Amino acid sequence: MKMQNNEPIRNEIPQIMEISRVVSEGKGQKSFFFKENIHSKPGQFIMLWIPDVDEKPMAISYYNKNEFAITSQVVGKFTKALDLMKKGGKVGIRGPYGNGFSIGQNACVVGGGVGMASVSTLIDTLKNPIIINGARSKEHLIYLKRYKKMLIATDDGSFGKKGYTTDVLNELLINNKKNKIRIVYACGPEIMMKKILEICNKYKVDCEASLERMMKCGFGICGACMCNDKIVCMDGPVFNLKQLNNMPEFGNFARAKTGKRVSLHEYHAMHI
Ligand SMILES: Cc1cc2nc3c(=O)[nH]c(=O)nc-3n(C[C@H](O)[C@H](O)[C@H](O)COP(=O)(O)OP(=O)(O)OC[C@H]3O[C@@H](n4cnc5c(N)ncnc54)[C@H](O)[C@@H]3O)c2cc1C
Ligand code: FES
Repeated sequence: MKMQNNEPIRNEIPQIMEISRVVSEGKGQKSFFFKENIHSKPGQFIMLWIPDVDEKPMAISYYNKNEFAITSQVVGKFTKALDLMKKGGKVGIRGPYGNGFSIGQNACVVGGGVGMASVSTLIDTLKNPIIINGARSKEHLIYLKRYKKMLIATDDGSFGKKGYTTDVLNELLINNKKNKIRIVYACGPEIMMKKILEICNKYKVDCEASLERMMKCGFGICGACMCNDKIVCMDGPVFNLKQLNNMPEFGNFARAKTGKRVSLHEYHAMHI
């Protein structure tokens, strides 16, 4: 992004950028790289516009001074259109947006499915974090080549432990006598993050989670992303343990595209 006095210039108008390379990360999962310095912090996101399709939020999954990337999982119309894009394709990008994660010590990072994309730049920043990566099956696991040392859980047992990331975390925290883990960072299905919050409350370990709520503007104008009194795109998407404990809608209710409050189950069943 353009810089003046080292501060990024932000006008909320998408900047047209060219895809410099595409990397396959897993089944229906690709990373799209752009040769720009995005000036991002771990846990921030962008709004990605594909002309004639839509504009959607995506975590910044790689960054350095020369380039950044997003990693997408095919789920519906927008992500299918993105999946078809190749090197040289042009998209519009706004951001970075959101607050990002704190940088703690003695950390455990939990990623569920493509939620790994939101915690990946955090993993790159932390000192030797324990990483728990979970997905439905082996082929849905992301970043197997990027991170060599991970504790893996798959729902069907096709790789790593059969079960959920939360089972692996629970086992680690039962044996956390020397405070080897002081903070747990999470991104993935909200049901998983709610369970992680409960586990952290039980074992009195700090926690931060990145919420993936319906977003339209991405910078606090439209109210589409509200979770109780929090504007997720601006106050979050990362919330700490105290905030999460004070958000009754977290893990229970979300807002559909119309703004209607629906159960989390209904929200995830929707193709928007
Ligand atoms: C802060 C944030 C970061 C995200 N990072 C990533 C990422 O790194 N990689 C990735 O693959 N996905 C990410 N997502 C989710 C991504 O935005 C949706 O997968 C995408 O919008 C789906 O669009 P679709 O047309 O393919 O699917 P649809 O069929 O339209 O929707 C499928 C599901 O995607 C979610 N979704 C749809 N529209 C939106 C929207 N406008 N805002 C938020 N969620 C929506 C809903 O859960 C919906 O049920 C992120 C979401 C948020 C809020
Ligand atoms: S997406 Fe518009 S206020 Fe958050």
